[in-house]
Amino acid sequence: MPELRHIVRSQQFTEELISEIFALADILNPKMTYDYLKGKIGCMLFYEPSTRTRMSFESAVLRLGGQCISTENANIFSSVAKGESLEDTVRIVSGYSDIIVLRHPQKGSAEIAAAVAKVPIINGGDGADQHPTQALLDLYTIRCRLHRIENLKIVAIGDLRRGRTIRSLCYLLAKFKGHHFVFLSPESLRIGDDIKEYLTKHCVTFEEHFHLHTTSFGDADVIYDTRIQTERDKDNPEEAKRLLQEAEEFILKEEHLPLMSKNCIVMHPLPRVRELPIDPDRDPRLVFIEQANYYGVKIRMALLCKIMEIKI
Ligand code: CP
Repeated sequence: MPELRHIVRSQQFTEELISEIFALADILNPKMTYDYLKGKIGCMLFYEPSTRTRMSFESAVLRLGGQCISTENANIFSSVAKGESLEDTVRIVSGYSDIIVLRHPQKGSAEIAAAVAKVPIINGGDGADQHPTQALLDLYTIRCRLHRIENLKIVAIGDLRRGRTIRSLCYLLAKFKGHHFVFLSPESLRIGDDIKEYLTKHCVTFEEHFHLHTTSFGDADVIYDTRIQTERDKDNPEEAKRLLQEAEEFILKEEHLPLMSKNCIVMHPLPRVRELPIDPDRDPRLVFIEQANYYGVKIRMALLCKIMEIKI
């Protein structure tokens, strides 16, 4: 069995594996084409909308010399619309491809897929639970920009309850020592108790504030902003409206930039909507475009090489 068969959650990455993936990412150029995946097919099986995860994985497969098949909105554009189960879809698509990137609204869907797949499954986001490859690219961005992944003060802002990217990043950062998290969100969108328990178990300290605690910006290394996940309230538009109102005070504005240290970085998994209305070219500390399009493709190229056991 290969060392890395499926990627379903952040907790599965060991420090050694992370360092191997980062070493691969360091040497792979997202603007060059290789033939490491020549003859291989990557399938993008997406049941929820995506720009970055789907297209950066497609780009990574193509840059590595492979080819892609894909469906976005699989609920409508695949036989899922006729009632086919996730398991059967994965069983079939396993026969058409060599690796499957799955995004699905249901927590645990990547594990369900991995249990029946004949090829590696990569979790591209399962509901409000995890997005492990986003966490890896976030960690890689931090490592490339701040030159360390220990002893960081991370201020996380926004929908911390349902934001799978911050949940996954907490799991990943907890593997490294000396971090302190500051969680800023409306009380109704506070970080989950499961994450707080995990951080405590791994000796990571944290504090929570239910207002935009700007005094924590001054010595922060990373400001990690997130969007309010209104799509999780699609059956309850009144709730979505209420949460957006509550989140109004958490909008990160240009006037907050002078409060931040000159060495900090401002990250966002994107898409951003109203919570970060600042031109990314306004300040070099705003790294969220490069986070997605440069570091994102490098890490996904590295992950594909690692999971397909390509020797570089
Ligand atoms: N960050 C992220 O997962 O973006 P997409 O939803 O566009 O894939």
